[in-house]
Amino acid sequence: MKKLISVSAAFAGLALSMTVITPASAQAPDEATMKLGQRVFLMCRSCHSTEKDGRHKVGPNLNGVFGAKAGSKADFKYSDAVAKSGITWSEATINEWLTKPKDFLPGNKMAFAGVPKEPDRKALIAYLKDQTK
Ligand code: HEC
Repeated sequence: MKKLISVSAAFAGLALSMTVITPASAQAPDEATMKLGQRVFLMCRSCHSTEKDGRHKVGPNLNGVFGAKAGSKADFKYSDAVAKSGITWSEATINEWLTKPKDFLPGNKMAFAGVPKEPDRKALIAYLKDQTK
């Protein structure tokens, strides 16, 4: 029994040191984050597809959205608020957009109040990044 404890303690120590030396940005999102992101995306799914060449719904298909200019899907009719915003979608801009769309780009036509909780947005963005690449 005593041996078992010291072995697991050694493993815990190892896991801890690995966590310390690996920069957070280099880590792939864990399964729990992806699951939460998928759950949050249920709010978006009725209006947005994410797969390559997915059809537009009420909102534009989101494939390739990270790194793209806002309003860049040629065959979707955006509001001027989005089309002329001049912003590029990144983790940071999408995070702000999803906090409260109508404050970030007033006059946009995305009828969605926002995702108020930061952990939900973070998980959603990790999930979205994976789904839209
Ligand atoms: C009721 C439908 C609806 C819901 C729900 C919705 N959206 Fe949208 N979304 C839109 C519409 C419409 C636009 C275009 C807005 C405009 O042109 O003003 C848009 C635009 C966007 C854009 C900009 C796309 C581009 O090509 O510039 C992103 C990113 C986005 N939505 C993400 C999301 C996410 C993530 C969710 C869920 C948290 C969500 N939306 C929920 C309808 C919706």
